Amino acid sequence: MSKEKIIEVKGLKVSFGEKEVLKNVSFSIEEGDVTVILGESGSGKSTIMKHMLGLYPVAPNTISIFGQDIVTFDEEQELKFYLKLGVFYQNGALLNSLTVGDNVALPLEQHTNLPADAIEDLVRTKLNLVNLEDAYYLYPSQLSGGMLKRAALARAIIMDPPLLFCDEPGAGLDPVSLANLDELILKLRNQLGMTVLMVTHEVTSILRIADKVLFVDNGVIAFEGTLTEARQSEIESLKDFFTVGTGGKKVTHSLASTRTDK
Ligand SMILES: Nc1ncnc2c1ncn2[C@@H]1O[C@H](COP(=O)(O)OP(=O)(O)O)[C@@H](O)[C@H]1O
Ligand SMILES: [Mg+2]
Repeated sequence: MSKEKIIEVKGLKVSFGEKEVLKNVSFSIEEGDVTVILGESGSGKSTIMKHMLGLYPVAPNTISIFGQDIVTFDEEQELKFYLKLGVFYQNGALLNSLTVGDNVALPLEQHTNLPADAIEDLVRTKLNLVNLEDAYYLYPSQLSGGMLKRAALARAIIMDPPLLFCDEPGAGLDPVSLANLDELILKLRNQLGMTVLMVTHEVTSILRIADKVLFVDNGVIAFEGTLTEARQSEIESLKDFFTVGTGGKKVTHSLASTRTDK
């Protein structure tokens, strides 16, 4: 049974001044999948995501989400669209002057007319889900790095978005906190049925959570397929990621083959 395509990108081309970043990017994202955009630093991963978020102008018939070309949204459709989208940035900072509870409540306060006690219930439910039930009255400065990420994640999903975009969500975390965050994102996908699109160059994360892999190289999607297919790919630059897991740095194969810690 084929799943519904929630996102389709066709022939996305992006240049900044003289610099051609994306030559021709096409891919699709299916409902319920965790799809990872992988690629070296500077390859254009965030640029792809920002165009999908509508932060830059795009040509007609290039990006459709939930079956609609994003350039055709009117104001109301655009708002509806953004309410369906959870966004979790690398430095998706919380507001330091507000408690965690108030930070997570913000989208509900901006976009709903729910009474305060209903908002508090929803916030507490989401904080439970990300294992931060005790942080409701704490301020961001009182949280560890891993807790801050989880609080930002709770805020990203407070409106129950069917689609979650994450850009390098694990950046700056120690390996254990990173593993916890990955587990959590998987749990959210499984419990809330979200479709997840994640930009990362953390190979350990990809191995844990990806259903599908999109590999950006030289301005195109050089590989699109399942995690298993990605790991068997003969594309040298993609192989480098999986063999060595250097976080995006190019390594020679002679170096890779001298590794003993398999
Ligand atoms: N708004 C911008 N103006 C000019 N250059 C940009 C802009 N955004 C990104 N770039 C350039 O485009 C390239 C890809 O950037 P980015 O998408 O952030 O890469 P990645 O997320 O894969 O590390 C980089 O060379 C970056 O410097
Ligand atoms: Mg980036």
